Amino acid sequence: MRRSQGVLLPPVRVARPRRGDVYRTLRAAVLDGVLSAGERLPSTRQAAADYGVSRGMLEEVFAQLTEEGFMERAVGRGTFVALTVSRLSAPAKQKQGPRRSPTPSRRGHSVAANAACREPAVPSPFNAGIADTSEFPWKMWQRLMARSARELGHGALNFADPRGLPNLRVAIARYLAQFRGIRCQPGQVIVFNSAQQALNALAVLLLDRGDAVWIEDPCYLGARAAFELAGAAITPVPVDDEGIRADTRVRRSARARLTYVTPSHQYPTGVALGLERRIALLEVAERDGSWVVEDDYDGEFRYEGQPLTALYSLDSQGRVLYIGTLNKSMFVSLRLAYAVVPEELVESLANIRTQLDGFTPAVRQMAMSLFMDEGHFSSHLRRMRAVYGAKRAALVEGLAPLAALGWTWSSNPAGMHLLVRHKRGDYVRAVATASSLDLALLSAYRIARTRDDGLFLRFGALDTASLSAGIAALVAVAKKMSR
Ligand SMILES: Cc1ncc(COP(=O)(O)O)c(C=O)c1O
Repeated sequence: MRRSQGVLLPPVRVARPRRGDVYRTLRAAVLDGVLSAGERLPSTRQAAADYGVSRGMLEEVFAQLTEEGFMERAVGRGTFVALTVSRLSAPAKQKQGPRRSPTPSRRGHSVAANAACREPAVPSPFNAGIADTSEFPWKMWQRLMARSARELGHGALNFADPRGLPNLRVAIARYLAQFRGIRCQPGQVIVFNSAQQALNALAVLLLDRGDAVWIEDPCYLGARAAFELAGAAITPVPVDDEGIRADTRVRRSARARLTYVTPSHQYPTGVALGLERRIALLEVAERDGSWVVEDDYDGEFRYEGQPLTALYSLDSQGRVLYIGTLNKSMFVSLRLAYAVVPEELVESLANIRTQLDGFTPAVRQMAMSLFMDEGHFSSHLRRMRAVYGAKRAALVEGLAPLAALGWTWSSNPAGMHLLVRHKRGDYVRAVATASSLDLALLSAYRIARTRDDGLFLRFGALDTASLSAGIAALVAVAKKMSR
């Protein structure tokens, strides 16, 4: 193995450094903690080349710093930083900005305040709407990653196609045809790092400032933020037991440029969009000449019967743009998702994608395509469907005593979260405050104010013990607060 050449040295602030400049720079770097105890410095030859000075000068500087105790030289091993900062001084304070320092924009503030997609690092009841990785075939995945790196060779270190690796686009198109009833060409599939990134890119591609976007109310905050970022005028459309009520808007003859929906498992209420509503939604889109973005973030996880057919497959006009994510069905740090769009949008969308972050690295795309081609993905989905289905069933069973207190929840047997609601919002909020559980409120996802509220129970990654403990704690506090 090639030996490391030592740390990168901090820059000297003058063009032609003299001995004193180099000395002061290195000394300050040690005192400020920029270089810390034990770090190996480059050889004097390398450091002299980095600073563009003579090796003799560097020898003198290193010798002085060694004599003063800032560095140690070990014969045959090199020169090391000797001091810990704490022995001498506190780490350098952050510089104060100028008195009237520039501030973030209003839009920046608002997007930062509403940014949605951060999950807690430690799953606990009920903050864990992410994949359970305890059953993930990790060894197999490691093998496929290693094989992909080997087969791609040095090419893996270069740019990759911003539309995605051809093999993965083929594998996704095949998967969608087999399991989601979606007929599309691999050329219509664009790979992203996340559904969120696909939403951001589509918002930029399809919307002008001020365009009307209909979103479900309550809505996935990440989608709302993506449309707001693109300058859209957001119109909340109420959601009831059958999903989005696009018909209420139609009656008021409002028009949209784009409608965002989560038809298989509405986020966060959990209801499925009924067939009549699906057809009505497509009719409205036709009337308006508008787009429909279908976010199928967890459509794989339906625990009775077959997964619901995607809205995409009902559309004969190329209005529905479909988004799926593998970050939920595989594991959250995978960072792979996809959009299916009409072919004429592919190039522009891929160009916008390059503007966001270039492309997705090839190795993990290839590993994913092998995982799909060799049948591991369908086996994994089958296994996880059983795992999440059992957790959901345990949750619903455990919550049964709450029904008598007026709590309700969707009977759509799907997904990794359950929303439990109550007509009395003040009671729901009192339960959330009194419990030590990590409970999100339905009202946080709403635009219109309503009197009811709900608790968002995200259970995907919870193990059986913490799920049971969470249920018991919730039932106890809900009973107590109802008195
Ligand atoms: C409705 C919805 N869309 C998209 C996503 C995000 O998926 P990704 O992690 O791929 O951005 C989530 C994640 O929870 C979600 O709930």
